[in-house]
Amino acid sequence: MHVYIEDIGKHEGEEVTIKGWLHNRRSSGKIHFLILRDGTGFIQAVVSRAAVGDDLFKLADHLSQETSVIVIGTARADKRAPTGFEIDVKGFQVVGESHDYPITPKEHGIDYLLDRRHLWIRTERQQAILRVRHEIINAVRDFFNGRGFILADTPIFTPAACEGTTTLFPAQYFEETTAYLTQSGQLYNEANAMALGRVYCFGPTFRAEKSKTRRHLTEFWMVEPEMAYADLNDVMELAEDLVVEIVARVLDRRRRELAVLERDITRLESVKKPFPRLSYDEAVQLLQARGLPIEWGGDFGGPDETMLSEQHDRPLMVHRYPAAVKAFYMKPDPERADVALGVDVLAPEGYGEIIGGGERLADLDLLLARIKEQGLPQAAFEWYLDLRRYGTVPHGGFGMGIERVVAWICRLEHVRETIPYPRMLYRLYP
Ligand code: 4AD
Ligand code: MG
Repeated sequence: MHVYIEDIGKHEGEEVTIKGWLHNRRSSGKIHFLILRDGTGFIQAVVSRAAVGDDLFKLADHLSQETSVIVIGTARADKRAPTGFEIDVKGFQVVGESHDYPITPKEHGIDYLLDRRHLWIRTERQQAILRVRHEIINAVRDFFNGRGFILADTPIFTPAACEGTTTLFPAQYFEETTAYLTQSGQLYNEANAMALGRVYCFGPTFRAEKSKTRRHLTEFWMVEPEMAYADLNDVMELAEDLVVEIVARVLDRRRRELAVLERDITRLESVKKPFPRLSYDEAVQLLQARGLPIEWGGDFGGPDETMLSEQHDRPLMVHRYPAAVKAFYMKPDPERADVALGVDVLAPEGYGEIIGGGERLADLDLLLARIKEQGLPQAAFEWYLDLRRYGTVPHGGFGMGIERVVAWICRLEHVRETIPYPRMLYRLYP
């Protein structure tokens, strides 16, 4: 019977068939040990001459890395094995040969690996990361679905910028028109929230970021909730609940993967409510006190975020940024017009911003003024202005970048390992 390695525990003593690939192999001369993988896990298969006969025994000693094989044998409990089981092989069959597999257990450089990303994802570590990513995405979906948010998809081809005009990817849209790949679904999300109350969108977003940092991709996945009748405080509470739930879910269901990644889980276990809240003013003072060259009015750079997010054992929420550095749609604080009612959530351990959002500017005249100030084409935003013409309400939401969250939870150096095929300034292959 075909059994997946992760289910092997249910088949002790039975004859099972494993369909997979040869990950590694060693031999004592008398016995060959094949490490098999099938996508669900890794298991050692023990091949003896007595059990398989001369020909197969000899063949087993020549199988090369990543040969695809179907192995039949008996599942035997073994305390020393990582899965708690081994296979005593009765027979096997080669499905596809593999010669000179380019990724060996030795160390390879990062560009070498990225050029072979389609093969690199077969390694145990990369598989663990992609499984954690899967868990995070499912936790996000369950979180919003469980709270009555409606998934409403927003377009990828858009006529105008959402997050500033400097990071747009143009796309030829038939003969006459230039479309842009979306930077965020937010503006459409706001319209959807006016229709459905509480909504979220979840899809790929694009930024022509020329920055080569460990936090930036040109294509990344963002989940964006939006709520009608909500203020900045509601947005912060939602962000806090979401992050707490994601971390708890990964800790609950992905222990094995976190162990493969050698993740210190005590750091994740301290991610509990409430998250500290700091105004931008306070954050600037703190950074200046630590000797960083930031002046009031500037946006935080990578080093600023790293420093801030190393201050606490849990994520930190920084709110009320200078309106001048923030997007046109942000609501100015009614008590102080030079700051906007936005919030960023910074992950701990130096990971920086994982969430950005806030309360939206719901007033028609103020919004028109902001669009003019920033030199944006009003015509392209007429539909968005309609939301302020026909029954405007206070509302808000945020965007969370999945790759940044995966990088933090897995404690990775760089976001390039958080997605199967990363897209970056100098990387469009494979
Ligand atoms: O802070 P950002 O730019 O916010 C928005 O796009 C809002 N319109 C979202 C909203 O309120 N609905 O981006 C949100 C998040 C960031 O906190 C970060 O996690 C991620 O998206 N992000 C990136 N992730 C990877 N590579 C990039 N180049 C990213 N740019 C933003
Ligand atoms: Mg941001």
